[in-house]
Amino acid sequence: MNAREALASARQRLSEVENGGNHAVWLFEEAFGISYLQALQQQLDPDALGRYFGMVDRRAAGEPVQYIIGHWPFLGAEFSVGSGVLIPRPETEEVASLAISRARESGAKDILDLCAGTGCIGISIARALPGARVSCVELYPKAFKYLERNIAALAPGVAAVMADALEYHEKLAPGSIDMLVSNPPYVSREEMASLQPELAHEPVSALEAADGGLLFYKTISACYLQKLRPGGRLIFEIGHRQGDQVVRLLEGLGYCDVQLLLDQGGNPRIVEARVRE
Ligand SMILES: C[S@@+](CC[C@H](N)C(=O)[O-])C[C@H]1O[C@@H](n2cnc3c(N)ncnc32)[C@H](O)[C@@H]1O
Repeated sequence: MNAREALASARQRLSEVENGGNHAVWLFEEAFGISYLQALQQQLDPDALGRYFGMVDRRAAGEPVQYIIGHWPFLGAEFSVGSGVLIPRPETEEVASLAISRARESGAKDILDLCAGTGCIGISIARALPGARVSCVELYPKAFKYLERNIAALAPGVAAVMADALEYHEKLAPGSIDMLVSNPPYVSREEMASLQPELAHEPVSALEAADGGLLFYKTISACYLQKLRPGGRLIFEIGHRQGDQVVRLLEGLGYCDVQLLLDQGGNPRIVEARVRE
């Protein structure tokens, strides 16, 4: 079988999968380690061909293409991903970019990424701002394994902390944090039922939150308020229907400059606020 035939067969197998034609190419390039155009000039390695059709079968069975490939780009770096960790999303790149510019403007040094998953937010901040002291907090062992792996490969100075973000504040001194960033679980139990089948492969612990999806926003904003220094900044990624509630919550706790920001798709997906000086 040559490259053209292999790709055609994979595309046929993935014809019912959304964007399956592209996935067939991405998996091809991962399995063979060369581009499809390069492969057109060569004999295909039979082992790689077996690997390729194994990957295509996993995709046809519904596994996310990112887990099969095993890595995924986020702000220009390749993050290791797989079963048990949330796949970094493009909207989260906007959260990380905002955090990087705010940290740069304010000279923030002690930065906390709560509910870190792959570490995509905290690691990206550390890569952009080499003087920053970044800690990434993640509770679940399967996700923590990816966090450690990504830190080792991409930003070895970042601290990986295995802890419950809802309690970790107890370990911090008052005023010791310049910036807190978090993309926590925020999907309510009711909304979980209506999520796309694709999300069924990602861990429920990364998605679902009690209290109608607001548990982490309520606990983090209240319990870390005293841990942020005066003038320190809080940045949350939020679900697109949670903006007003999270803004009211932060204003009620006394944060200032509370802003709801739109992502590039025009959806309200980021809330930022500052601690009064
Ligand atoms: C929405 S995911 C975000 C992951 C990553 N920050 C990102 O943006 O891709 C939430 C993460 O929080 C972790 N998590 C859930 N409950 C937690 C808790 N109580 N303490 C710390 N991490 C928690 C999950 O395992 C998951 O990795």
